[in-house]
Amino acid sequence: MLGRQGLGMHGRWRGNDLHSLGSWTMETHLALPVTSAAPAHRGQVSRDLLIVASVTVAMFLFSVTFELREWLTEVTHPLELYQIDELPLTFAALSLSLAWFAWRRWRQAEVELRLRITAQRALVERETQYRALFMENLAGNALATLDGALLLCNPAMVQILGLRTGEEALSRNLGDFYADPEAWVQHREALAQGEKLDIPLLELRSANGRSAKVIARILARPAPGKVTELQVYFADITELHLTQKELADTLRENRLLSQEYLLVQEEERRNLAREMHDELGQCLNAIKLDAVSICALSKGVHPEIERSAAAVVEISSHVYAVVRGMMQRLRPAALDGLGLRDAVSDLVDQWRRRTTGVSYGFEADGDLSELDELTNITVYRLAQECLTNVAKHARATHVYVGITRSGPSQVRVSVRDNGCGMDLNAKRNGLGLVGLRERVEALQGRLELSAALGAGVHVTAWLPLTGRD
Ligand SMILES: Nc1ncnc2c1ncn2[C@@H]1O[C@H](COP(=O)(O)OP(=O)(O)O)[C@@H](O)[C@H]1O
Ligand SMILES: [Mg+2]
Repeated sequence: MLGRQGLGMHGRWRGNDLHSLGSWTMETHLALPVTSAAPAHRGQVSRDLLIVASVTVAMFLFSVTFELREWLTEVTHPLELYQIDELPLTFAALSLSLAWFAWRRWRQAEVELRLRITAQRALVERETQYRALFMENLAGNALATLDGALLLCNPAMVQILGLRTGEEALSRNLGDFYADPEAWVQHREALAQGEKLDIPLLELRSANGRSAKVIARILARPAPGKVTELQVYFADITELHLTQKELADTLRENRLLSQEYLLVQEEERRNLAREMHDELGQCLNAIKLDAVSICALSKGVHPEIERSAAAVVEISSHVYAVVRGMMQRLRPAALDGLGLRDAVSDLVDQWRRRTTGVSYGFEADGDLSELDELTNITVYRLAQECLTNVAKHARATHVYVGITRSGPSQVRVSVRDNGCGMDLNAKRNGLGLVGLRERVEALQGRLELSAALGAGVHVTAWLPLTGRD
């Protein structure tokens, strides 16, 4: 009976097509008489006891019929000398002892059987759980030989590999699904050396021709006394990958658009500044000169005209100064005339003249003479906005501006003050810093803001000079 109790568990998956994957169910067949074992066992014992009782009764009837004991006495009488006539009772005692012995062994066997059944049932349950975990996993799980021949695939793996059923996988090799066969050769060699492979991006060619991208983990599991098997885990990231690519493309397009927009904006500002200088500036100059000559002509003759003309001179000078400031902000002439280093130095000087009680430090390292237009204007605007912010918000006593060309491929701009600082987590309404970040990111650079209340603000930007889209 125990021969039937081997753990003959084998799961079978039902499912006809990919669409029914979600509703696959597992049938677990157990060739283990787990629940019926004890009653069957007892039934046999009762039958055996019945046979014993029947034999005993039959023997009794046989003895009564043929006067067996009298016959035995007669036969054994001549051997009285050897006490042979005492043997029947001795045999009777032996029979009782054997019955007791058999009963004890039976009880022991029953306890053992019960323990084994419990242990086997737990084992089967655990196997069922693990199998369910393996099969129901949303990621693809598979077992394969060291050469890649697939032995078992869960439904998710079947779907990733573009197969119709798990059975179909059994005739396939994992290497067949690699988009790059060279990669499979390398992976197989590494696995044969016992390496565990964690592959962040593996391209597969599914059976249905679909290109799939997966994150993969493959490892060889040596089992003592058994052939080494491969455990394969795939997580399908095709959609994610596509989305990431689309996102990256959109970002690149946005960056190009921003760059273009910034260039157009700067060009427009330059034109405006030129127009203001050529038209407005000239007109204001002419008005001022005319007013000066009216002032000179009316001097001592028409005091009222002289006063009005002097007022016109003053106002036109003021308007000219305002226009000059606007022109300067629209397009820093120094940037075209002097180059980046001197233009920023000039900017710092302007703030030095404008503010009292604040010391300014300026440093420029490396060759800044041949940077492209967008980098030049971005560095300049960054310094301009940060210095304006310091004057507007910081109440600082020291400001430092640094521009460093670190190697051929990067420029670092840094503006630091020792003012009141700011809470970086607080909501800000201004557009200055946001605009700066946009400018820097349009050039694929990075802007970092470090600040704390009472500890000043430090703005750093890294701008790449090469490798831009
Ligand atoms: N150097 C600085 N020191 C203290 N606070 C600053 C500094 N720079 C910026 N801030 C804070 O950050 C906010 C946002 O700045 P910004 O974006 O340039 O906008 P705006 O200057 O128009 O207010 C400012 O309102 C100010 O509170
Ligand atoms: Mg600002």
